[in-house]
Amino acid sequence: MIKNSEHAIENHGKRIRLFLAADNVASLNNTLQLLSEYHEFEIVDTALDGEDCLQKITLCRPDIVIAELALPKISGVKIAEYLSLERPEISTALLADQSNLGFYRSAMLAGAREFLITPVTGEELAFSLKRLFEIEKERRQRKRTSLNYDLKSEIKAKNKNGKIILVSGGKGGTGRSFISANLANIYAKSYPHRRVAVADFDLQFGDICAIYDLVPKKSLADLVPVADELDQATLNSVAVMTDNICLFASPTELERSELVSSHFTVKLLEACRRYYDLTIINTGALMTDIYLDLMEQSDYMMLVANPEVLSVKACAQIGRIYKKMGLPKEAIGFVLNKHADSRLLTPERIAERLNIKYITSIPNVPEEVSQMLNEGKLIIETDSAAFLAFPKLISALAARVGFSTAPT
Ligand SMILES: Nc1ncnc2c1ncn2[C@@H]1O[C@H](COP(=O)(O)OP(=O)(O)OP(=O)(O)O)[C@@H](O)[C@H]1O
Ligand SMILES: [Mg+2]
Repeated sequence: MIKNSEHAIENHGKRIRLFLAADNVASLNNTLQLLSEYHEFEIVDTALDGEDCLQKITLCRPDIVIAELALPKISGVKIAEYLSLERPEISTALLADQSNLGFYRSAMLAGAREFLITPVTGEELAFSLKRLFEIEKERRQRKRTSLNYDLKSEIKAKNKNGKIILVSGGKGGTGRSFISANLANIYAKSYPHRRVAVADFDLQFGDICAIYDLVPKKSLADLVPVADELDQATLNSVAVMTDNICLFASPTELERSELVSSHFTVKLLEACRRYYDLTIINTGALMTDIYLDLMEQSDYMMLVANPEVLSVKACAQIGRIYKKMGLPKEAIGFVLNKHADSRLLTPERIAERLNIKYITSIPNVPEEVSQMLNEGKLIIETDSAAFLAFPKLISALAARVGFSTAPT
């Protein structure tokens, strides 16, 4: 039981994040008690007046604030109004007793999303909160989809040339970085007059520059403050240049990675489309909002699968998200990396399982790849058997995505 608002709050991981504000400890404890059986909620913090509530919300980013109508200092209705205007991503559910029923209309007009009359049972409260969360999630998803579609068509209309390929894969360690780096390198070397970029959006453990044996001084995060002014000179000032490739490193510190926003991502890809013939985007294993933006903004999503059940399962999951987002079926395909002879998981069987088109495979050559990575060499500089898979991959992608492989 919470004795006062300063008590430590248990954090149970990723659940619906609730903030509770009540005008006394007893009613705060009562609400906590009602929710105690429902493990889908996480109480991120509490407050005993409206002012404290608004201050704490900034730090703990709840999904829903449950506030009593009659809070001291700032009322529940005012909190609802403030949040709906300033922090629309946070919903407010108000708790009021029978005598305050008359406030229903003004509370809803102010922006409250739920108005519950006390006493309420745990079941009723949990049901309302879950429903509120689902509705809000759906609303955000729709808004984001229409916003991005508008932006996407606007961007495509402006820049018809540059193509963007997202290298994705549902599980860590499937070979996304290895393939992204070498794909860009071989394309750039084969077509020296084309402009190629690699953006490392593995915002946690980006390693593209390390594969090129280069140490970046700047990263994607340095472009965030100038997201609306991304011209060629600005991009060059941050990119690590190697021949005709511009590498955009991922930030080395996690705090800097958090600066990478949805707006920035859209703007960067817009600039890439304008200044580079081909942009390869490397991703990490975490599915985030930024990842969804990348999926929407790219011309093609290449999944990297391994011939293992768990890897295929993870790719299937991404494929489902991709389809749910309404993105075109012809703009997704998978590469089978670390391919070894296996009667069970053949490319055809995986394609059938994923319902996604197969592009090509890259053989399993663990010693060669680890030697390359250890020596800071790219596959073009070695005589690895896997090298031959890359020109094949490039022509298959060129045919699907529409970038040129004509001699330059
Ligand atoms: N074709 C291949 N044959 C053998 N080993 C490979 C092959 N491709 C990649 N690897 C190995 O698999 C490991 C993971 O590769 P890589 O880092 O490119 O994957 P990733 O998907 O980017 O992983 P992460 O989730 O860490 O970003 C590396 O140790 C690499 O040596
Ligand atoms: Mg990687």
